[in-house]
Amino acid sequence: MAQEYDVVILGGGTGGYVAAIRATQLGLKTAIVEKDKLGGTCLHKGCIPSKALLRSAEMYTQAKQATDFGVEVGEVNLNFTVVQQRKESIVEQLHKGVQGLIKKGKIDVYNGIGRILGPSIFSPMPGTISVEMADGSENEMLIPTNVLIATGSQPRTIEGIHVDGQIVMTSDHILELEHLPASILIIGGGVIGIEWASMLADFGVEVTVLEAGERILPTEDEDISSEMEKLLIKRGIKIEKKVQLKINTLQVTNDQVSVEAESDDNMKSFTAQKMLISVGRTGNSSGIGTENTEIIVENSYIQVNDFFQTKESHIYAIGDVIGGVQLAHVASHEGVLAVEHMAGLKTVPLAYDNIARCIYSYPEAASVGLTEKQASARGYTVKVGKFPFKGIGKALVNGNAEGFVKVIADEQSNDVLGVHMIGPHVTDMISEAALGILLNATPWELGATIHPHPSLSEVIGEAALAVDGRAIHF
Ligand code: NAI
Repeated sequence: MAQEYDVVILGGGTGGYVAAIRATQLGLKTAIVEKDKLGGTCLHKGCIPSKALLRSAEMYTQAKQATDFGVEVGEVNLNFTVVQQRKESIVEQLHKGVQGLIKKGKIDVYNGIGRILGPSIFSPMPGTISVEMADGSENEMLIPTNVLIATGSQPRTIEGIHVDGQIVMTSDHILELEHLPASILIIGGGVIGIEWASMLADFGVEVTVLEAGERILPTEDEDISSEMEKLLIKRGIKIEKKVQLKINTLQVTNDQVSVEAESDDNMKSFTAQKMLISVGRTGNSSGIGTENTEIIVENSYIQVNDFFQTKESHIYAIGDVIGGVQLAHVASHEGVLAVEHMAGLKTVPLAYDNIARCIYSYPEAASVGLTEKQASARGYTVKVGKFPFKGIGKALVNGNAEGFVKVIADEQSNDVLGVHMIGPHVTDMISEAALGILLNATPWELGATIHPHPSLSEVIGEAALAVDGRAIHF
């Protein structure tokens, strides 16, 4: 049977389902085609489950530190089964919530694999969607005015390394661990690698990070990378940089993995019970019928213009599958802008420089805007202010005063160009900096904002004042 829609969305992840809700608000008859579960990677394999595990890891560590606060808790033990059950129940609660929203929006959901057809008896233009239904029932044909591709991404692997999901894993597999290993090799010191390194170290696992580049968290400001490295090493995590894996030396048995790697001209051998490959992600652009269209795919990523239109102007794409900043909050904003554009609303291209990025390790890191190096490379004469958490009373009260905030401003215009934070609760505090950058704030304006005392947020005001040598408490 053929059904007509204003918009059919391929993929019901964060980008897709948010776009669907916005589309119905705009009066568009909308359908989502999803082969798995609504909520996608973020809800089922990424942000939410990993943060639930990180929270348990943090709680475990804090419980062990409770005596420092005068709280006698006795012996502290970890029950990893309960840790996993808690994660599952949070995911399930949110999954029900998303299903409820989709139902409330009267959005049709087709559970199956959607493929874009070329010109056919249904339409002279490419874009009819054939859905191979998961329950084996007859294919559904959806005839939309517009298509939104929001198929997301999957973990990238390394050529020559077989991912078995048991010993050698990606971030998809490691979330399902039933038992903690004694040791792990983490290949790649990016966001996923560092969040897992931090979490597993808190759970008592011996962690070694092997990073190919010169520093961990290569997209963050250099000061953040080096502070993170220092604090992770202090917690017993081993970090090897400029590492070149010798894939032909990889040996995997039933209970361990070993590999040799060259680092700073030295050959070293690494062995652990598990290996996590976290070397980036690739776009889910194959098998969805782009070859039946003029859509351009480069390196697995669908090419789009500022309004998220592909070469077929009625077919849009958003989220991880277009590459760039692969974050859930970016995907959902892109989704909203794409359907507003379809509905004929005037949209403003997304300012990618103003997107807050968060890393939920211990310590947390968060940033918005340009790094110092990026700002200099763009020709700005930069001035920098830094303020450490150890100068903030609330951080000492909380028993966690590591890290700092760094504010980068333009000497000429005096605009804040970037804010980089590492330390307690910075992922909750970065939004103030993001708003500041959106409103073209100067360091003085951030500093003149009256931050409550005592609060961790005072660190932002002090770092901003420090740009012009006016910090009070340091
Ligand atoms: P990533 O791109 O952040 O980091 C990959 C790291 O692996 C880089 O440091 C790179 O130099 C290194 N690498 C690449 N090939 C290597 C090799 N052969 N050997 C050793 N190191 C190698 O990718 P990651 O961490 O996999 O994350 C994927 C995406 O998911 C990112 O875009 C990230 O932003 C997003 N994400 C965001 C989170 C958040 O917002 N908190 C959490 C988790 C993921």
